[in-house]
Amino acid sequence: MAGTAPQKTARDYIVFALDLPGLAAARPYIERLSGAVGMFKVGLELFVREGPEIVRVIQRTGGTPVFLDLKLHDIPETVRRTVAGMADLGVAYTSVHCGEQPAMLEAAVAGSSGRVGILAVTLLTSVGTGPDGGADVETLVVHRAAAAAAAGCRGVVCSGKEAAAVRRACGPRLTVVTPGIRPPQAGKNTDDQRRVTTPAQAVAAGADYLVIGRPIRDAPDPLAAVRRIAGQVEDALRNSGPISRQRSSGTPQLPE
Ligand code: C5P
Repeated sequence: MAGTAPQKTARDYIVFALDLPGLAAARPYIERLSGAVGMFKVGLELFVREGPEIVRVIQRTGGTPVFLDLKLHDIPETVRRTVAGMADLGVAYTSVHCGEQPAMLEAAVAGSSGRVGILAVTLLTSVGTGPDGGADVETLVVHRAAAAAAAGCRGVVCSGKEAAAVRRACGPRLTVVTPGIRPPQAGKNTDDQRRVTTPAQAVAAGADYLVIGRPIRDAPDPLAAVRRIAGQVEDALRNSGPISRQRSSGTPQLPE
């Protein structure tokens, strides 16, 4: 049917973070995982070494969408012009810190011309919760998410622990991206991440995308790790239903 978006499958939830030191190291992952994950995330480490060409390599290798995760934080005009360049590069998403004022986020949205989804970084998942068990963090994240939605952002980056509260506050149309994912088999090792959830927990809380780096990158068989995580996402979707889409009634419509 013309104009109908293809059904989102479990693997589309997975955003693999290409946290690697250059094209030679990244290429095997790009070739192996193209089409097996929903998106590749290119961060500062790889972008500093390879520049825009790394995005073109991914686009030529199967066309998996790219999240160019540069976590911008600068004066509005610089952010606007930078995001305009990203739009020309054809990336699907980029990230901007919530910052002190909405002007920076608004400038990113303006620079995107609707061609790049702006994801506002609320509070890094490497920041832990205090003795209150996370209530203050949740309040802060929800406050920033609401400000990002009001500024016209497509979505937010937060941990799975705050995803449900963000959904309740901002409604179903905001894209919720959750890093700090550790599959159950990772045990207690969370590396430098502090606010962590399993894939199933994040999906049940309403996450649209799970950013996953080391649990896939460092697995003996990265493709098998992706398939295992996709299975966990599928189970969670079956058990809980995509909560994100059930909460739509009565919530304000967010800008695209
Ligand atoms: O799964 P792993 O911990 O290896 O994922 C690390 C990735 O998650 C890094 O690429 C980092 O930039 C990203 N990240 C993020 N937002 C956060 C925390 C981590 O995009 N709040």
